Formats: sequence, C-alpha cells, structure tokens
Amino acid sequence: MKLIKVESPQAGARLVAQRFAEISQATPASPVGLATGGTMVEIYKNLVQIDFRPTFEHAYALDEYLGLEPQHPNSYARYLDEHFVRPLGFEGALHVPGQGQYQNQSGYDLFEHSLASLGPLSVQLLGLGPNGHLAFNEPGSSLTSRTREVKLAPETIAANSQYFDPPESIPPLAVSQGLATIAKAQNLLVAVFGEHKREALQQAVSEQETKVPFAAIRNHPNLIVFTDIEL
Ligand code: PGA
Repeated sequence: MKLIKVESPQAGARLVAQRFAEISQATPASPVGLATGGTMVEIYKNLVQIDFRPTFEHAYALDEYLGLEPQHPNSYARYLDEHFVRPLGFEGALHVPGQGQYQNQSGYDLFEHSLASLGPLSVQLLGLGPNGHLAFNEPGSSLTSRTREVKLAPETIAANSQYFDPPESIPPLAVSQGLATIAKAQNLLVAVFGEHKREALQQAVSEQETKVPFAAIRNHPNLIVFTDIEL
C-alpha cells in the first residue's frame, strides 16, 4: 500500500483524477470502477478540468440504495449520470448494481458475471466512510463478500440522510459490490479527506485490524490511499 499525504482535499482530488486518467488511458479498453459520495464530486470535476476523455466502453458503480428508481434525486445511478456520464460525455454502458437488469439476487449474480467477463477493472475509485465502510460494506462485512443486499449501519444513515428530503426517507438497505469483488480491480485509488475520517483511516492502515472492511484490500499490490490526514 502506498499512502500519499496531500495538502488539502482539493489537491488530493486533483491527484486522484490525474492518476485515474493515467491508468485508464494506459489500458484504454478496460472497464473502470466509479464511486459516489461527497469526496468523489471534486474528483469528477477535476476529470472535466483536465479534459479527460473516456476511452472505455464500460463503467461499474460500487453500490446503490435499494429501491430507488434510477431517476430518483438520491440514486447513485443519477449521481453518476450528473457527475460523470454527462460532464465527460461518456457514451458507454454504466452498470449499477440493483438497477435495471441487476435487480434481485439473480441480478446481483449477473452483475458479478458481467464484471468478471468484461473485467478486471483497470482502476477502481474508492472512498472510506467515517465508520470504515468501503462501498456499502459496513464494518463486520465478510472479507470474501460478493455483490449482495446490505443493511446500512446507523452511522451511515446518520452521515448520508442529510442528502435526502426528508432525511428519514433514506432507504435502510442498499446493494453493494462485495469486498472480494472490489479487491479484483487492478488498481485501487482510495480518497480519504477530512479529520472526521481519522479513526477510520487509522484502523484501515493498521495491520492489527484484521476485521475492518479495508483489511480485504490492504495487501492489494496496486493500492494507493490519498489523504490530507497526518497520521
Ligand atoms: P463521502 O463518503 O465521500 O461522502 O465522505 C465516503 C463513503 O461513505 O464511502
């Protein structure tokens, strides 16, 4: 694991965007993995600023709230359409677990099958939740998990309900790529910005913490963590 200390979230977002662009351009036909959340908004803005042009035909999302229509203002399908697909003019296929053909367990299996047959991803973007979740793999998730339905942790509901109107309308369940699914990408770029993530980051990088979600990727050969937190 390589840990890159950045001066600010803005500087970090720029570096992550540049690295993402370099990797995906080096393997232009390989699909990529996209993440969502507040941190990623800046990263996608930087991709636009550096005039990044997608060459890949397939992009895979990490997760989605269960039961939200793709056009719902809080769905991750819509988020990725607004922050990635439209600003970058991506004309390929966006695969979102839990949406379209990827609904119900047979759909989650199909999502895994699609990823396995078109993959591996050249690069997967990742954030880290303040409680240590990776995608919606909450603490306690199996390190060998695959795409499935998951229950959001109370801390995740508390952190993300601000985006919902009213806040109580946040779905309690989601569909998430599993930790073993995520670990298959060739390169993992993890962006962790803000003091509120200090404890989660400390646990993530600590070899002693064998059960946190991050333990599933800690020994990945091409893992870079970008953070503004001085450990
Ligand atoms: P954030 O979410 O970028 O909104 O902090 C990260 C995450 O929960 O994985």
